[in-house]
Parts: sequence; structure tokens; C-alpha cells
Amino acid sequence: MNSAPRSVNRRIKKSWAMYHRALELIPGGTQLVSRRPTRFAFGISPIFASSGKGARIRDVDGNEYIDWVSGIGAILLGYADPVVDEAVKRQIDKGTNFSITHELELELAEELVATIPCAEMVRYTRTGGEACAVAVRIARGTTGRDKILFCGYHGWHDWYMASNLSSTPGLDEHLFSGIEPIGVPRALEGTALAFPYNDLERLEKLLEENRGEVAAIVMEPFRSELPPDGYLSGVQKLARKHDVLLVFDEVTTGFRLANDGIQSVIGVVPDMSVFAKSISNGYAMGVVAGKREVLSPSAQMFISSTYWGEAVGLIAALTTLREVKKRNVPAIVQKTGEQLKSGLTGIAREVGLPAVCRGISIHPYLDFQIDDAETKSKLSTLYIQEMAKRGCHGYTSFYLNASQGDSEITQTLEAARETFALLVEGLNENRLDDLLECVPKQEYFQRLVH
Ligand SMILES: Cc1ncc(COP(=O)(O)O)c(C=O)c1O
Repeated sequence: MNSAPRSVNRRIKKSWAMYHRALELIPGGTQLVSRRPTRFAFGISPIFASSGKGARIRDVDGNEYIDWVSGIGAILLGYADPVVDEAVKRQIDKGTNFSITHELELELAEELVATIPCAEMVRYTRTGGEACAVAVRIARGTTGRDKILFCGYHGWHDWYMASNLSSTPGLDEHLFSGIEPIGVPRALEGTALAFPYNDLERLEKLLEENRGEVAAIVMEPFRSELPPDGYLSGVQKLARKHDVLLVFDEVTTGFRLANDGIQSVIGVVPDMSVFAKSISNGYAMGVVAGKREVLSPSAQMFISSTYWGEAVGLIAALTTLREVKKRNVPAIVQKTGEQLKSGLTGIAREVGLPAVCRGISIHPYLDFQIDDAETKSKLSTLYIQEMAKRGCHGYTSFYLNASQGDSEITQTLEAARETFALLVEGLNENRLDDLLECVPKQEYFQRLVH
């Protein structure tokens, strides 16, 4: 994987050199698997960022890109949002971490309780994975049961990775196949059981098979498509029937769909919900919000960190939540998402590319309608490669943020017109391998929908 792709030296020379230095010092070269350059067009897509503003980022080689990944979902208002950043800077001048609780801890709790339907009490963390782990600890502590049924991606912690200790690895369908649960205690085998999305029968069977042992159902309520009618209320009914807590992981959906998350839109209020990433526009912050009877027993549990009440995360979350309401961010991202979807689908049709941009407008994806998995993977990588060369960074799925607007749509659709034409040429003339300047990207997150 170290040999330089054909055009690497021209576009991302500095990034490429830094990546190889990083591999010597940082196992895997980066802290987040989704940031590994092999996830994009390896050797063509940017690897190291130097700055970001609004909808755009700049890499260390000086290239500018529209960032359609929005900080892997963490950016909701836009990079370096002036209002959030000003509030953070003011807080820095006043101090950030104290020996007693900072007043913002309460102010944010009041904002969250007034905003999120299931929130009667809250706990804080710094990351989404931590927030899921806290929710699981609370669920186990509150119910006195050990097992967790889950669907989707929920971070890196032992409770979740334990799913792959069994002979049929649970994460194959939810994360990516073949992950070895290295370092996860074998004693946790059988404590986290995956269930497939939109299959109430299978969920019920799992609940029956583990009757009296399940603490919670933890799930991403949806990702790229709205949930099928009746599915989530069906999950809730089963949870109630088996006296199991229902936990929604709203880390990815964030506050893109509605000012209060997703609960009012889907009409199901869980026992707990978990938030991170976009709740604080990129600053480190996570939240577990839930019903009083579920969260209040956690006062007796040892769940504690010096950094969970640190004021930068608190002020960033408080300001972001208020700005989301003030600017009506869901309406903005919805409009941009619709433009992107219809624009990309229209261009694909015009140039004869078998592809449709579909899914929910806040997180749409490009669906290549090709049966052969290898060809599909090559098309995806070629798309990422050619879009990167034209200043559009991303995967074949898109995370919307409120700074993306008309100029980003215009530039992206122009880039897509040229890129799609090349894809058609590659397909029709059987020249995809010639056009690819890098190895096909690694498919890490299969997750719920695609
Ligand atoms: C649904 C979901 N839950 C949890 C996480 C983990 O969040 P973090 O990377 O902040 O630990 C993610 C991150 O992608 C996520 O998408």
C-alpha cells in the first residue's frame, strides 16, 4: 500500500510524505478509522488538513475542497463558525476546567431538557463512543441485566466490540467484516448481540431467546433513509413487552433533521438518546439524555470524568443548539440536500450513468446501479478520485452542513458532470482500471442502508 499512485506527487505531495511519517509514529496513521486515506482515493484525496472555513477545507498542499463529509458528520453549522467560535474564545479567556462544577453544566442541561423529547435528565461525555458506553452502563445498572441488543455503529468500546467474540461476528453487518476483537476480554462473549435493521421478527426472537437478560436495545434509528413505517414503534413495543430499555444513537443524524433531533419527526420517544459530533459543531462533546427513572439511578453508579464538564465543550454545545434553532439549520440542509440529490440524479441520467442520488436529504448517497461488486467499488473510487481533483472531497455519501449552499452545489454539479462522463467512458469502454489512479477504496462502514 506504500507505492505512490500515479498522480500522488503532483496533488498531495506534502500530505503523502506526512502520512508516511505518521505511520511510523501513530499506529494506523490517524485516530479515526474513517479518516484513513484508504477510505478515499488513496494517494489522490487529501490526507492532512491545515484549515477549514464554512463549507470548505484546505489541505497541507494548499488545495481547497468543498468538504461533503462535514468532519465525518461533526460539522453542522460550518467550519470555524463565527458565533460558536466567538463563544468558545470568550470562555477560554474565563477558564475552562475547574475544581468545582461550571455553571454551564446546568445551563446546557436546561437547554437539552427543553429541546430533546426524551430528555428529563442528562449526562455528558466528550465523544459519541463514550456516550454510548455510558448509556450502556446506565442501562445495565438500572435494569440489573447484562445483555445488549444493538443495530448500527456505536463506537470502539469493549461492550460493542464484544459482539465479534462469538463464532458469527455481529459487526460484519453493522461495521465492516473481518474485525478481530483484539484486546476485548473473552469473558464478554455473548453480552452484545447484533440484530438486523427492519426485521421485527428477528428482534423478537432474540428477545425471547434471552428473556430476562437484556438490559437495552441500542440502535441507530436510521441513517441514510427514513425508517420504514411502523418499524421503530414496533421496536418500542417489543422493548416495552420485554421490559427492556430503548436507546437511540442520534450521533450521526444529529440536529440535521429537526431542531430537537429525530424523535419528534419519527414519533417515537426512547428511554435514552445519545448525541455527539454535530451537537457542538466539531468541539468535543457527547450527551446521554433520558427519562428520569432511567438516569436517576446512575447517581449511584461510578461514571465519572474530569473532562465531561469542561467548559469549551459545554459552551460549544449550548451555542450550537441555539444557533440551529435561530438559523433553522434543518431547513437549510434539507434544501441543499434536495438540490444535490436532484442535480446529481439529473446529470447521471443525461450522461447515461446508471446511478441515482437517493436517501434522506440530510445524508444522501450515490447509488451505482451495477450488480458486480468489484465494478461498483471501482466506480465509487473513480468518482471520489475525479471529484477530489475538481475540489470536492467526500465519499459517495454526503453529510450536509448549513454552510453548503448555491456555490457549493454549482461547483459540485459541474465537477460531477465531467466525472460522470468519465465513469460512463470507463464503463462502456471497459477502461475503469486505466482511469483509476489508485487502488479501490476500502469499504469500512456498511452499516444500515448501503
Ligand atoms: C451512530 C454513531 N455512534 C457513535 C459514534 C462514535 O462517535 P465518536 O467517534 O465520537 O466516538 C459514531 C461515529 O461515527 C456514530 O456514527
